[in-house]
Amino acid sequence: MPALPRLILATRNAHKTAEIRAMIGNRFEVLDVTAFPECPEIAETGITFLENARLKAEGISRVLEGWVLSDDSGLEVDALSGAPGVWSSSFGGEEGNHARNNARLQEEMTGKTERGARFRCSMVLARGGREVMHFSGTVEGRIIEGPRGLNGFGYDPLFIPDGHEATFAELDENVKNTLSHRARALAQVIDFLERGA
Ligand code: IMP
Repeated sequence: MPALPRLILATRNAHKTAEIRAMIGNRFEVLDVTAFPECPEIAETGITFLENARLKAEGISRVLEGWVLSDDSGLEVDALSGAPGVWSSSFGGEEGNHARNNARLQEEMTGKTERGARFRCSMVLARGGREVMHFSGTVEGRIIEGPRGLNGFGYDPLFIPDGHEATFAELDENVKNTLSHRARALAQVIDFLERGA
């Protein structure tokens, strides 16, 4: 059997890698930058998801061969004028501390009747240091008052997608992977790659 083509994810977030790997199935061998110690840290200095996704994909594809895919994503809450947005991963004061991020979100939403929110995901596919194409996906939903469920990561325990009564952290991971912002962006990536990009 011929070797699968390789897709390198410009992330160190094991949750993103696991979700993307599950959705890609056996179409590609999915690795992330933790497999390549020579990869630089990419500073996320953009002010949009797309800018940050571009910085990560182009930066990593400058040092690694083949297709590189980045994911920059986050939560926009209507009652907070779109915050935390691109600063989702450090909203609680410490980069990547999901417990603190969720505590701050709960605190900021106390007493708010407007509960609408969405996850957004921008993905950039790059090769040889240049963007080849970008993609995006969103999922609308609402923020609940207290966390529910153990699956997923990040703000999943506080977010109920439209059309459901369970949070992303209560839904089966396969269900999240059919309707999430990441799933919607990735479906377009897969389509693009399969059409022989
Ligand atoms: P990034 O690594 O800069 O793209 O930051 C992503 C941050 O957005 C994560 O650390 C989470 O706080 C949040 N986030 C993105 N996608 C999800 C998701 O699928 N579920 C829950 N939180 C997410």
